[in-house]
Amino acid sequence: MHKFSIRVFGCQMNSYDGDRLRTALLHQKWEEVPDGEADVVILVTCSIREKAEQKVASEIGRYDAVYKRKKSPAVALVGCMAQRIGREMAKKFSCVRLVSGPRHLGLVPQAVTEISSGTQPRFFMDDDPRALLDLEVAPTARTNPFKAYVTITYGCDRFCSYCIVPYVRGRLQSRAADDILKETRTLIDGGVKEITLLGQNVDAYGKDLNDGYGFASLLRDAANQPGLTRLRFATSHPKDFDGDILEVMRERPDICRAINLPVQSGSDRILREMNRGYTSGQYLALVDKIRGALPDVSLTTDLIVGFPGETDEDFRASYDLLREVKFDIVHTAAYSPREGTRAAMMDGQIDNRVKAARLNEINALQSQIARTANEEYVGAEFEILADGLAPRGEGKIQGRTMTDKVVIIPGCEEDFGKIIPVRITRASHWSLEGERI
Ligand code: SAH
Ligand code: SF4
Ligand code: F3S
Repeated sequence: MHKFSIRVFGCQMNSYDGDRLRTALLHQKWEEVPDGEADVVILVTCSIREKAEQKVASEIGRYDAVYKRKKSPAVALVGCMAQRIGREMAKKFSCVRLVSGPRHLGLVPQAVTEISSGTQPRFFMDDDPRALLDLEVAPTARTNPFKAYVTITYGCDRFCSYCIVPYVRGRLQSRAADDILKETRTLIDGGVKEITLLGQNVDAYGKDLNDGYGFASLLRDAANQPGLTRLRFATSHPKDFDGDILEVMRERPDICRAINLPVQSGSDRILREMNRGYTSGQYLALVDKIRGALPDVSLTTDLIVGFPGETDEDFRASYDLLREVKFDIVHTAAYSPREGTRAAMMDGQIDNRVKAARLNEINALQSQIARTANEEYVGAEFEILADGLAPRGEGKIQGRTMTDKVVIIPGCEEDFGKIIPVRITRASHWSLEGERI
């Protein structure tokens, strides 16, 4: 077998894992092809909400129908969903020949060469949430040549009551700073302009190593590498975010002025039930502190509606918090019960229609906030890193500002990877249009 296809679902960590798997397979002289021509389709999967899993399950069903007739393509199911329900999937679908949890990726490139229809499917499960057999390869074969992700911590120990991540990604483990910096060096030497350091809670970086070297130190060392144009990070946790990070950001203008600080709810009662470890008052005080230190910062957040027991009043508190903070972007989601988490067993599960109505209401508010904020940018000047064609419109490209806003300008592929000064000419609720200065 020599032909593979790779499909990534879920978060940025999965993009990183997918890019590393691609790189490893290309090193093995495998050829990447569209999935219709592949011998092996690798699915890098997510379990965060039920819908994320249903989508992949129906894709596997589609591959299975073909596999039954042609004994191809074999499916390698990796990532969070593989860890959660990979065994079930392999029982149900004969095309699933390999299942690997996110902490066993290191075994996948060799194992896919051994997939054959005669043998039993192979399983590399993260049954021990501390075991780790990672893929020691920098993601040099990426979908985006100018931007790369680098994971700095595996797993998560916070156990928010709604969240499946600690169960599928295992315990917190920080990567050695030397390994991270070696990897970022390789990427920069290969032409990468922008690196995003990834962790479920980047502020937890180093807390398991206890050597005094935490996220702020890593951020400073990563930013100091010559040749790097932009450095980003995600995700920050309101409980663990500390002032040292703001200090490093103020020192280094090449660290992007964009912080994703998930609030999840504006109600103190719900925040307590979620086990988030802060109140809305503490969250708002942190927002003030961040905006005080970095006046041009862009703040984004994640918010869940319809958590068990959420009353109209609790929901109103989330609504009001959004109105007060005026985030640049809010990633909203209707609560989805995840088997085995504490919230899934709570009383007061909310009706789907109520969740949908709350989601609509909050999304309508946020698009209004975003539109008003974006309109204020008309006439402003930014530098964007151009990195792709605009989704619509001939002869247009897109890039992002330091604050992670998308700006669309006239241009062509030759502009990709360049920093371009622009002036904003038009705004909508999700993007800005501009002209070159
Ligand atoms: N580590 C990050 C988020 C990881 S999951 C943090 O601490 O915020 C990404 C987002 O998915 C979360 O911020 C949350 O808003 C959403 N999410 C997680 N579990 C969910 C669930 N069971 N139902 C709905 N949304 C969920
Ligand atoms: Fe999930 Fe909470 Fe960990 Fe984020 S911090 S990954 S929401 S358990
Ligand atoms: Fe999904 Fe796993 Fe990321 S559950 S959001 S792919 S950590």
